[in-house]
Amino acid sequence: MKDNHIKIFDTTLRDGEQAPGCSMTLREKLRISKALADLNVDIIEAGFPAASPGDFDAVKAIADENRGPIICGLARCNPDDIEKVHSAVKGSDNHRIHVFVATSAIHREYKLKMAKEEIIKNAVGAIKMARELCDDVEFSPEDASRTELGYLAEVVSAAIEAGARTVNIPDTVGYTVPAEFDELFRYLHAHVSGIEDITLSVHCHDDLGMAVSNSLAAVYAGARQIECTINGIGERAGNCSLEEVVMALKTRNEFFGMDTQIDTTRLYPTARLVSGITGMQIPRNKAIVGDNAFAHEAGIHQHGMLQHASTYEIMKPEDVGISKSNLVLGKHSGRHAFRDRVEGLGFDLDDFELNRAFQEFKKLADKKKDMYDGDIEAIIMNVDSASAGPWTLKTLQITSGTATDATANIQLLNEDGKEHEDSATADGPVEAAFISLEKITGIQLTLRNFELHSATVGEDAQGEATVTVEFNGQSYRGNGTSQDIVEAAARAYLEVINRILRRQERGLTDAQLAPDINRASI
Ligand code: KIV
Ligand code: ZN
Repeated sequence: MKDNHIKIFDTTLRDGEQAPGCSMTLREKLRISKALADLNVDIIEAGFPAASPGDFDAVKAIADENRGPIICGLARCNPDDIEKVHSAVKGSDNHRIHVFVATSAIHREYKLKMAKEEIIKNAVGAIKMARELCDDVEFSPEDASRTELGYLAEVVSAAIEAGARTVNIPDTVGYTVPAEFDELFRYLHAHVSGIEDITLSVHCHDDLGMAVSNSLAAVYAGARQIECTINGIGERAGNCSLEEVVMALKTRNEFFGMDTQIDTTRLYPTARLVSGITGMQIPRNKAIVGDNAFAHEAGIHQHGMLQHASTYEIMKPEDVGISKSNLVLGKHSGRHAFRDRVEGLGFDLDDFELNRAFQEFKKLADKKKDMYDGDIEAIIMNVDSASAGPWTLKTLQITSGTATDATANIQLLNEDGKEHEDSATADGPVEAAFISLEKITGIQLTLRNFELHSATVGEDAQGEATVTVEFNGQSYRGNGTSQDIVEAAARAYLEVINRILRRQERGLTDAQLAPDINRASI
């Protein structure tokens, strides 16, 4: 590998999935892993197999698909975690075991209650064990940026000697700043022998909004792997955003002199896919993939752009996969054109799913003047969630008005073929619809958040509803889309209910459904 190659280690499915409300089903994880392979990331961290049986199954399924990138799983420094990662990832020709232990004084004292020497012994034992199972072993001293520099250098030296091929330096709580992180990396280069023989990696969180800047500072100071997530999703304020850091390296290539192997034209579709699956909306002004990232409203900017695009545009929308016009298909478009567009958006549907999506597309195209990429994405998300559980929405009737309470009457179809109907009255139509759904399915949820967005533009645009709910101490998100916003909300609520019921069917207990205590402490 050339020395100016920056490896992109995507942890959307591990650190990203740990964000509240971002948990994904196995099918969703497989879909994202395919998109990450198409994006050409070097490494996919597919999960934390010891966290739950569901995590294990997902990592194994992704590894068994063997699509090209190295498949990695996370483990604490104990034999059980390491064995679980190995059995989950070994189906992939290229696999990696990633072990970690916290090293900062605050974690040593309050979380681990372990002395410095004990932590080194623990890390060395784990790395050696992992190396017996797999050549490619990565080690992370968690909370490295708040670890005493001298001790950090000792830990890193011991990890390299024990056989770690990659040493990752996490800014676990998003505390560092670029100049300080640059110094930390230079210190390690000066004080750790053998550091030039391994890949030095960086893993930043965004608590102070500096995850991308700190990652770039690390690259400037010698890091050759960046750990990041699509749309920067992750715990608390999130992780370093993949699309931002990749485009920074590409756009400022003359400054950094570094290349990634990312197919940047897949950035936008991948970002939309992850947003659709997790329900984490992309802010309009988000760099690279936000709706406004390439929109020039101000007259003075528009004038400049008309003279020459480079006056105000440092990247081309096409370079990140935004088509010049996203007005794509109409009601006369055929199946082939539809399939091409679906694939172009990063979805991989089987024939059955494609047929259902195409039927929905035709129905919507009859009602709606212009069809956009956002409409197609919304249809696919709906088709996917509808097929993902025991209940399907058959009909929804609402009566509401300024002077009366709202009433919702809902008919659901169960997978056993039977129809169930119930109604409820409440202050507003959305609440009435949610209560009706709870009465029919028997699942009571606590609503924590409800958001409504327009999927595309125009008065006939579809509404995209996202609900965040709590069930047995765990948070879930669901999405629903329709031209009728109450129906969109009901579909989102039903998606969550289906997800919970499906997990219960698979025999996962509430304890397994709830966040693992160790996992929560990463
Ligand atoms: O933020 C962190 O420290 C982590 C490690 C497990 C790499 O996610
Ligand atoms: Zn992290």
